[in-house]
Amino acid sequence: MTRGPFPTTRFRRTRATPSLRNLVRETELSVNDLIWPVFVCDGTNERQKVVSMPGVERRSVDLIVEAAREAADLGIPAICLFPYTDASLKTELCEEAWNPDNLSNRAIRAIRDAGIAIAVMTDIALDPYNANGHDGIVRDGVIVNDETVEALVKMALAQAEAGADILGPSDMMDGRIGAIRAALEAEGHQGVTIMSYAAKFASAFYGPFRDAVGASGALKGDKKTYQIDPANRNEALACVARDLAEGADMVMVKPGLPYLDMVRAVKDAFGAPTYAYQVSGEYAMIEAAAANGWIDGDKVMLESLMAFRRAGCDGVLTYFAPRVAKALNG
Ligand code: PBG
Repeated sequence: MTRGPFPTTRFRRTRATPSLRNLVRETELSVNDLIWPVFVCDGTNERQKVVSMPGVERRSVDLIVEAAREAADLGIPAICLFPYTDASLKTELCEEAWNPDNLSNRAIRAIRDAGIAIAVMTDIALDPYNANGHDGIVRDGVIVNDETVEALVKMALAQAEAGADILGPSDMMDGRIGAIRAALEAEGHQGVTIMSYAAKFASAFYGPFRDAVGASGALKGDKKTYQIDPANRNEALACVARDLAEGADMVMVKPGLPYLDMVRAVKDAFGAPTYAYQVSGEYAMIEAAAANGWIDGDKVMLESLMAFRRAGCDGVLTYFAPRVAKALNG
């Protein structure tokens, strides 16, 4: 896009006062832009600190309901559930993933039963349930695509049955969006939305998350045979095109801040509802520097989220969500 020159050479005129700055501000950040990822664990009234993510904790289902209520009261439109599954339930075939009474599905039902006005988003991938820690089923050391997609479809239907509003396939198998959409249509879940982790890169920024869901101990090797090479922009755009064509309602870029060029490219190319995930490692970096007094954590938090919006995000998954909402609500 070419632009003519702005009609001034004295830009400081419109920066002079808060009122003038408010008048010329091009981007707004609101609580409506936030999705809050939370970690669910077993037990009652149970809270467990996540060491690599200061300020983040796993909560038992009863406390997840309280968290959902708190989020709804703050005006946050969606909460996203990630289960911390006991090692004894992890198997090679990941059967716990589609157990109607697994931790994640119990949490969805509990939030629904409490009548809380918040959208519930889920994660579709096998890693919390996999003895190998991978997002897909492993056969002879290879992550098998089509058999994994069959398992993901069962997982998706169990989540839809439990009352999820937004399904979030984060596994990066080929063909999963089409298969999940077809199953939802066939089984009477036409209204369930899919937010595809379409441009999900093989990133070292996910490290603290794998601790939070207890997958780091189990994981053998890396995820480079299914997640996108951080070097590949065209491939990522092609994945977004494919997932939209297969029936995704919304698409995501992940990680966030180091990949904002992808957010802008996706928004400009497709115009679809576009989200980014400010992932665990991004959160941990900000918190660690703030804890040392090296940066002002709250200011960096708000500035980073404004940057997501400026890049074209319709919303952001962020562990900061309640803190941002409180800051914005004043
Ligand atoms: C699981 C999944 C991951 C994240 C979200 N869903 C980890 C991974 O792909 O290894 C990462 C989230 C974060 O780092 O905050 N497939």
